[in-house]
Amino acid sequence: MADHLILGQTLAFEGDPFEVGLSAARHERHGAILVRDGVIVAIDTADALRATHPEAPITDYGEALILPGFIDAHAHYPQTAIIASWGKRLIDWLNTYTFPEEMRFGDADYARATASRYFDLTLAHGTTTVASYCTIHPESVEAYFAEAQARCLRALGGKTCMDRNAPEGLKDDVQSAYDDSKALVTRWHGVDRLSYVVTPRFSPTSTPEQLAALGVLWGEHPDCLMQTHLSEQTDEIAWVKSLYPEARDYLDTYEAHGLLGPGAVFGHAIHLDPREIDRLTETGASLVHCPTSNTFIGSGLFDMGLAQQIRVGLATDTGGGSSFSMLRTMAAAYEVAQLRGRALHPAELLWLATVGSARALRLEDKIGRLAPGMEADLVVLDLASTPAIAQRADKADDIWEAVFPTIMMGDDRAVQAVWINGVPRQ
Ligand code: GUN
Ligand code: ZN
Repeated sequence: MADHLILGQTLAFEGDPFEVGLSAARHERHGAILVRDGVIVAIDTADALRATHPEAPITDYGEALILPGFIDAHAHYPQTAIIASWGKRLIDWLNTYTFPEEMRFGDADYARATASRYFDLTLAHGTTTVASYCTIHPESVEAYFAEAQARCLRALGGKTCMDRNAPEGLKDDVQSAYDDSKALVTRWHGVDRLSYVVTPRFSPTSTPEQLAALGVLWGEHPDCLMQTHLSEQTDEIAWVKSLYPEARDYLDTYEAHGLLGPGAVFGHAIHLDPREIDRLTETGASLVHCPTSNTFIGSGLFDMGLAQQIRVGLATDTGGGSSFSMLRTMAAAYEVAQLRGRALHPAELLWLATVGSARALRLEDKIGRLAPGMEADLVVLDLASTPAIAQRADKADDIWEAVFPTIMMGDDRAVQAVWINGVPRQ
């Protein structure tokens, strides 16, 4: 495929703003990205790349800000239709809204229609990669990967395994969880831009035997990630303690069954004990912060200080989270951190939604940054997408002040364009 030049403001991270501050970011007021064969070949000023590539066709986004596509590191696409369901905390919310909806995904047509709607929504919100839980049904995984593949998306997902504390009709068993997951690894892992993720839902809905079987499966496929939930609500933690009396803590229920390591991705992780933090740090596991979910379901306030020592990604947790938008998610992360006494800088928020999530998913060599060699998944943001945002951005003195109103007040109206694998899709 021929070269293509994409012009606009660019914001590229060359380091980690949590470690080195604002020197991590490079902003070009008149920037350009050269794309070839789905990959970023160069990033520089518009003048420089126009001079070296005079023949390349140009798409000029003017004042708009070009960023890597957002990466949602923890979502449940089957919960699309029950987002914003009222009045419950985690366990009641699962039983009242989530499990009845997830029962429907044995129907391949329903799963396909929901997956299609889900990806249409996430793309419209500027999200170009998702790591999603599916349901216990292999059909739900087929639907998810088929719809991602049809859109040329990089996507991660897995069959959610549960063999207890779930309704009849929404349980697998030790052997079928292993067999079905294994067959899905073989069918989808590494196909196009798709990755299979070994997915026990959480310790309360798996027997120790099922966790152990999934630990064996993960050992057989160490290049897959493993995703699950950890220490989201205090009631849930007490329940885990009663179900696993021999475990030292919640993390130990996974560790004891071979489900802890560098490729482990734990959603939420709000109420951690010191031992859990030490083990997560030592083993190189990742955490995913889901702030709209944590406020919506009333779970608690994630400690962003953990990002100093543990890989932390950012996620919607749709539909426990109350939005498909990673802009809304960044805004909630800002507010949660404020409630813990820390103001996250716009650079840190944007980094979390791109590089942070890519690192959490071990994809930092492929997505999440505007840099040569990275896959050309891009989001183009209109920094004046509503009158309220425009009048605030108008007074900005620098790029951070210009982008922060969009982070705090923006939604899908701010998404001017999305590029997938070097091709405009939106
Ligand atoms: N813990 C176990 N399952 C879920 C889920 O679907 N959503 C959230 N937020 N937490 C969970
Ligand atoms: Zn979740």
